[in-house]
Amino acid sequence: MYLIVGVSLVKSSPSVALKGKIHYPGIYAVERQAMYKTINDVNVKGMRVLVRADLNVPVHDSSVSDLTRLERLKPTLDRLTDEGARVIVMSHFGRPKGKKIPELSLKPVANALSKVLNDRSVAFASDCIGTAAKETVSALGQGQIAVLENLRFHSGEETNCSIFASELAELGDIFVNDGFSVSHRAHASTAGIASLLPSVAGINMQAELTALSSALEHPKRPVGAIVGGAKISTKLEVLGNLTERMDFVVVGGAMANTFLCAIGVDVGKSLIENDMVSTARKIIANSDNRGCELVLPSDVVIAPALETDVFTDVVKIAGVPKDKMILDIGPESVSGLCAKLTECRTLLWNGPLGAFEVPPFDQSTNAIAVTAAKLTRNGVMTSVAGGGDTVAALNQAGVAEDFTYVSTAGGAFLEWLEGKQLPGVEALSGTGK
Ligand code: 3PG
Repeated sequence: MYLIVGVSLVKSSPSVALKGKIHYPGIYAVERQAMYKTINDVNVKGMRVLVRADLNVPVHDSSVSDLTRLERLKPTLDRLTDEGARVIVMSHFGRPKGKKIPELSLKPVANALSKVLNDRSVAFASDCIGTAAKETVSALGQGQIAVLENLRFHSGEETNCSIFASELAELGDIFVNDGFSVSHRAHASTAGIASLLPSVAGINMQAELTALSSALEHPKRPVGAIVGGAKISTKLEVLGNLTERMDFVVVGGAMANTFLCAIGVDVGKSLIENDMVSTARKIIANSDNRGCELVLPSDVVIAPALETDVFTDVVKIAGVPKDKMILDIGPESVSGLCAKLTECRTLLWNGPLGAFEVPPFDQSTNAIAVTAAKLTRNGVMTSVAGGGDTVAALNQAGVAEDFTYVSTAGGAFLEWLEGKQLPGVEALSGTGK
């Protein structure tokens, strides 16, 4: 049981029945389904294939602490090398802003990639353009792989400089974009290069696009989204686009406090964005006009501060004391949400429901993650999740493997949810050379 917010008033509804409004995919769906070729469409034998990967992975003491992005790249590299391509992997790492910063070298990541590729040898070029890169590439035999040094050591990468793009393009015959998670950047290695070489999508790129389209552009209905996060200001466009497409949107995280405030709830000393209260009201009104239910909690977990081992209590939203803050949704809201999920056929998840990084305020996120995972395992629901915190939360709950798809993208996932075109994806539908 939880609160469903309508346009004119707040309805506390024991029923969670959907309004049954059907939305058809709109213009974005059409536009973003633009035709692009894949590695199945090109003969790569003997070719120099430049692969834009996202090797921007967490590294501590020269060791990669999360291999997910490398593991997602493996199928493309395996396929290309099996088919006799000479593979050149290029990526950025961190934000060196055009300067050569030794700590941001891709060398340790290239070593980790070699391990992920079952200890296959991976050559490393100490620069991504020029003599070092050319020599490394010309030494590659069929089925061999090289990684180029950090693209962002050159300012031309981020400015999408045409000369820098040409210098990269000189190293290859075919361009494969397998870095969905960096395709929201209009950079030389994502967008510029695609107009200089025949360009196709890699296997990871295809998997991301297929999963996101299946959840957003033509989902099985009812389709719902869980959107968490601290600030409405960072999720405004996401909420705008999702309330247009979803049957329901569950608002979680500290963002929900501002929505509660907007419907007249006293949220005590909870984190809110005062300047976003009227925006929250507009979102509520727009959602109702569009036939999308905006779901807020009916009960919450409160505490004096965001700390572990602190005294906590559960109260109805109308009973939040002045000296307490909301840090998670309550058990009644969790069970209402679980019931709602059983009716849902597609779920899109971005952002935890509570302050999940500080136990016990991770309970609702864990419970909903476990329920969504079970429904997915049982074939009831398609579940697609993405965004840094969300992936961490699903991993913490131990259920990431059970979701239909977990995107490795952060900013790109958000921009896709906002309904935007991603320059790196768009460039793939160009004609190339
Ligand atoms: C990411 O990690 O989200 C991508 O690699 C993009 O990185 P950026 O935000 O530094 O462009």
